[in-house]
Order: sequence, then structure tokens, then C-alpha cells
Amino acid sequence: MGISYNEESRSFKLTAKDTVYMLAVINGEYLGHVYYGKKVPDEQLNYLMRLEESPFTPERNNRDRAVYLDTTPFEYPCFGIGDYRESALKVMDSEGMSACDLRYVSHRIYEGKPALEGLPATFATEKSPAETLEITMEDAHERLTAVLVYTVFEELDVITRSVRFVNGNDKPIKLTRALSACVEFDTDKMDMITLNGSWARERHMERCRLHVGKQLIDSCRGESSHQNNPFVALCEHNADEDRGEVYGFNFVYSGNFVAEAEVTQHAKTRFLMGINPLDFEWLLEPGESFTAPEVVMVYSDSGLGKMSRTFHDLYRENLIRGEYKDRRRPILINNWEATYFGFTSEKLLDIAKEASKLGIEMLVMDDGWFGHRDSDNSSLGDWFVYEKKLEGGLSALVEKVNALGMKFGIWFEPEMVSPDSELYKAHPDWAIQIKGRDLTLCREQYVLDYSRKEVRDYVYDMMRKILDNANIEYIKWDMNRQLTEVGSNALPKERQRELWHRYVLGVYDLMGRLTSDYPHILLENCSGGGARFDAGMLYFSPQIWCSDDTDAIERLKIQHGTSMCYPCSAMGAHVSDCPNHTVGRNTPFKTRGHVAMVGTFGYELDVTHIPQEDRDAIPGQIEEFKKYNPLVRTGDHYRIGNMFEDNTFDAWMFVAKDKSEAMFEFVQVMGRPNQRSRRIRLKGLDPDAYYYEESRPEETFSGAALMNAGINVAWIWNGDGIYGDFSSKILHFVRK
Ligand code: GLA
Repeated sequence: MGISYNEESRSFKLTAKDTVYMLAVINGEYLGHVYYGKKVPDEQLNYLMRLEESPFTPERNNRDRAVYLDTTPFEYPCFGIGDYRESALKVMDSEGMSACDLRYVSHRIYEGKPALEGLPATFATEKSPAETLEITMEDAHERLTAVLVYTVFEELDVITRSVRFVNGNDKPIKLTRALSACVEFDTDKMDMITLNGSWARERHMERCRLHVGKQLIDSCRGESSHQNNPFVALCEHNADEDRGEVYGFNFVYSGNFVAEAEVTQHAKTRFLMGINPLDFEWLLEPGESFTAPEVVMVYSDSGLGKMSRTFHDLYRENLIRGEYKDRRRPILINNWEATYFGFTSEKLLDIAKEASKLGIEMLVMDDGWFGHRDSDNSSLGDWFVYEKKLEGGLSALVEKVNALGMKFGIWFEPEMVSPDSELYKAHPDWAIQIKGRDLTLCREQYVLDYSRKEVRDYVYDMMRKILDNANIEYIKWDMNRQLTEVGSNALPKERQRELWHRYVLGVYDLMGRLTSDYPHILLENCSGGGARFDAGMLYFSPQIWCSDDTDAIERLKIQHGTSMCYPCSAMGAHVSDCPNHTVGRNTPFKTRGHVAMVGTFGYELDVTHIPQEDRDAIPGQIEEFKKYNPLVRTGDHYRIGNMFEDNTFDAWMFVAKDKSEAMFEFVQVMGRPNQRSRRIRLKGLDPDAYYYEESRPEETFSGAALMNAGINVAWIWNGDGIYGDFSSKILHFVRK
């Protein structure tokens, strides 16, 4: 059983595979955090809650045993009653007061996992069941209820958290800070790992020691962002890929977030995650409720690698949905880097004709097919065909592409409007704006007010006309700017600060409608590259464009960072032309293929113009992708190299769950002079089984030898005395 309650000690024990999480109702009906970590047999560990009395902390209720609000580890700390650490909850009541004091009222435990209203969330399946604990807390003064929801995935080291608030008062109250989870650690000896970057440099890993005070990453851009991803790992100082305790936290949300660790005066760490309280307010009229999105927590006793594999298993089974969940995705060719805005039906057909001959399965028509869009300065919001470019219309083009045996996909940016568009001319008030203030342009566009149903309906109607008119089997849903002047013409002033969150809820609503009305369409999310690569989006689209940076060497870092918590099979990755359009680098075509094969795989180049030898390589590359894709989609991912620490090489593996085969990929980055080979230890194999490498079936090695002694990987040479820097190879190990 995943969740138990001990009546005597009033403690809860949540058991998730090898993880235990304990909490207890303590003195004063507070909810204390007891333990989170490796499995223990004990029913309760309440002795951990005994605190030593310390000076200068306010005592409440003059208890026999000192329980100081500023020292106790709490499950869901409130602002304003003596806990001076960062709080999870802060309110503003109708009298202008901000204190809050939640106490335990009741609880219930049940099989399964509830959906979160209007929000993406993980779910239980037959293969991966779950059990849920709901603890109802109440502030008696405000009559505000908070239901803390904990779900345990019994087959995985996963616990999820969220909170539901209900205003039981006859007066309104505002939430001004309503985070989703707080976890208290009894140590300050931890590192914080985050995924940060910029456009074309998303999710680079950074690691730093925690220190006294608050350290945080966040977004207040209206999207999860290029700059900081809503993921944090807290780990022991000596934890690495394969060793040490790691706690991973990921927010299932696509808007403003905060993830914060605070090291306190007593050398303890409080970690919090949730919607960014900056500029956030939510008004609860009597009887109204609010749900804070989900935080996924993963515990690993064996390093970052195990943490990532747990996230991957969870997201592949319990988050990603739809017809493509367990299916290989069509190999696509996207015309963005091939033509940018300069294309016609004829050009697209030329690309499709050549592509179909080489085994490519789908043509994706990117930005520029609608309104009168010849550059990024017009037409967003006018989702009707630009006849000058698509002579004869869209359906004629799609039919021709289908006749080549290829599927057809299309690009939309449904959340946006260009000032130069029919939509904006008809409805200037539909853009997010503050009346009387200039609207700030970004990529020559404004953001539509998705908190308004009529706006969403209008855009969706236009999209439907396109989708119902032609055989479209893939959509790239893009989002190319951040929010400014966040105000809505439809919200009353006391609800204006809700727009950040209402916007995200509106996006989820429309994506939900789209995916249920068109279940056969493969949806790929995108946001100026990878600014919305988050678990919220994965709930709607089984793949997300990882980055506009398609350079194979840059991608090593981006994909390594992304794989911390997101499955490789969800990473949009394409082979593009060289010199690379973003970084100007030249890399071998083979390497570009090998790196893209880690993800969804496709091409983004003008296949009619690339060198003949590259074109000739495509059919073989596609065969290789098809061969290894089942391992990428269903196997276990092991990172071996780490370009953030050593730029001489990168390497990784995908191992079948039954350990019958494994794919090892090696990329030589900056070859090291006078070193001809490197010993690399493989990972994840069965130590007792024997394996051979496919190209040399006569030689066998035990899994133990391959993992403990390793293999010699020779540096790659491109002929006489020239290092094959940026070259790559794949070795395929098969169990005998
Ligand atoms: C974004 C995407 C690109 C491309 C362009 C089109 O930048 O990330 O892949 O679709 O928009 O404008």
C-alpha cells in the first residue's frame, strides 16, 4: 500500500517504490514535515519533530515543549504568524490583512489520482497505478480551506503535490502567494542544479552550492521561458550521474513560476515551487476555489541518471497522451531553415518530391502561409491562406503532397496577433494591454488575451476551417514572444493580476479542445525554439521543439540539460544544413543525424540544394533512425559524457528495459592531442549477460566487463593527421 495513516502518532507514510515521505499532525494541529528520502520500514519517525529551544524565535501558545514556528519543518507554511522563512501561502483579506494560519482538519486516502481542474497533470494508469492523500487544512479566522493533495506512484520513485483552496467565508479573500509544494530538508549541505540559458541556448545545466539565504530561479515572462526551466535538483555535494542522493522537482505548468531554496539560520533548507507570486493575485469570492498546479518530486539514491530515468518513465507513461504516445513519429522535413518566408506551393512540392524519394514521411509547412505574411511583420491572427504563395489553395497542395505518399503538417502561432492584420484591425482590444499605454512590440507582434473565451473561440474557428479543409496530420504550435503590459479589457480591476494565470489556463483550454477534436493530429509545441519545454505542454503535445539552435554540437548541451527531466523521445530535433544558420559551424552530416536521432528526428533544410553526398546519406540515416528509435522511445537513457565539464567528447546510451540490447553513441568534440583513444565504461547492462557489438559478432564481453572495465573508443580521424572533431559513431550491443 502506498499511503498509510498511523492513528496513534497521527502520522502519514507515503511509500513510492524505494522512497518514503512522512508528515504528521503535530502540536497545535500544524502539519509538520517529518522525512523524505530512502525507504525505511518504520511506520512513523515523529522523534524527528522534537526541536531544541532556541532564542529569538517567537513562541506560540506557550507550549510545554518548544515548538517554534520559525524552526518547525512545515508541509505548507503560511505567512504572517511567526515563520519568517519563505512561505507557501500569503493572503489579503477583505480588511487588508495578510496573515494566515492553516491547521489540520481532516484527511482522506483513496486509490487513483484526481485530475486538476483546467490544468495539465500526471495521471494513473493500469500499468503505473497511484494512490492519493488529501489533507484538508483550515484557517479558522479567514475560513479559508487548503486541501493539500499528495499522490504516490507506487511503481516509481514519484510523489506529486498540488493544493486546492476554497473560500468558506462570506467575504472575499485574495491569494497573493499560493505555491504548490514546500519540502523541508534537515541540511544545508546540498547543491542546486538548474537548467538555464537563452534563445538558442536553452536548458544548460548549472550547479552551485546552497548558501545561507534565498536562491531562486523563476519566470515572470508569461511562459516557462528560455532563461530558466521549471526544474530543480537538490543533491548531495558529491552526487553525480550514478551516485548520491538527488531530489528532482519539476513544475507541470507553462507560465510564471518560482523555484526557491532557502538556507535558514539553523542550517536547514526549505524548498518551494509554484506559480511566481510576483504580480500574482487571485480573488476568491465566497464559495470559489483555486487550484495550484502540480509539482512532480522524484527521489533518487543513485545520482542524476536514476532521477532522470524516473522522470522519463513517468512522463512517457503518466503524462504524455494521444495516439502518438507510444508510436514512432513520422520523419518530417520542415521548410523553415530551407526557405524562411520565401516559399511557394511549387517550392514546397519540389522539396516534398525529393524528400519522398529519400524516405522522408511528412512535409511541414512552417511560418508564412497565411494572411499576406512575407516577413515577421504581419498577418498573425489571419489564419487564412496566402493565395499568392499557395496558388490553388491549401487542399490542392496537401493532396499533391499526400499523392507523394507523404503526410502534411502546418505551423500556427494561435496566441498572437500582428498589428498589421485583419484580426487586430477588427479587434484591437483583444490584445493584452493596459488602456492608454503604448503596447510594447516584440517580434513585431502582440499577445492575444487568452483569458477571453470569445478570443479563443474566434481563433479556433479560423484554425478549424484550415484543419477541416485539408488532410492535416501535424501541427507546430508556436509562441514567439513574452508578455508585457499585462492587462485585460475584459477583467474587472480586482481581477487584473489574475491575467498571467488566466492566460495560461486559456492556452490549455484551447490545446485541450484541439487535441480532443483532432486526436489523429500530432501536436508539436514550440516557443521561439524551446521557451516552453515544460511538463505542462507535454500533457498536450508528445513532442516539443527543443531549440532553434540545430547545430549538432550546441545540441549536445541543450539535449543533455533537457534530458534531466524530459524524455529524449519528446525532444524535437532536426538535421539542418551547414554552415549552421545559428552558430555558423560546420559539422559532418552523419553527426547531425546521430544527434537528431536522440530526439524525434527530422530534417530542416532544402533537400534540393544540399550537397549530393548528404542527400545520398539520407536513406541510410533514416534506416538507422528507425532501427534505434524503439530504444530511444522505450529504453533507459544513460548519460556518459558531460559537455558542461569536459568538451573533448560526449557519449550516451539507450538500453532496452529487458537489457537485451543497447545503443552507445559517441561524439568527438575537441579531440585531445596525442591521445588516440579513451576508455569508456558502459552503463545499464546486465552484468551477468554476454554481449557482442553488432559489427564484430565474433567477440563477446560480459556486461560486467563492459560496465566495469569499459571499452576503448578510438578517436576518430578524418584522413591523414586530421582529427575528426565533431564526428560521431554508434555502437550497437546485443545480448548473446
Ligand atoms: C520560431 C520557431 C521556429 C520557426 C519560426 C517561424 O522561432 O522556433 O522554428 O517556426 O518561429 O517564425
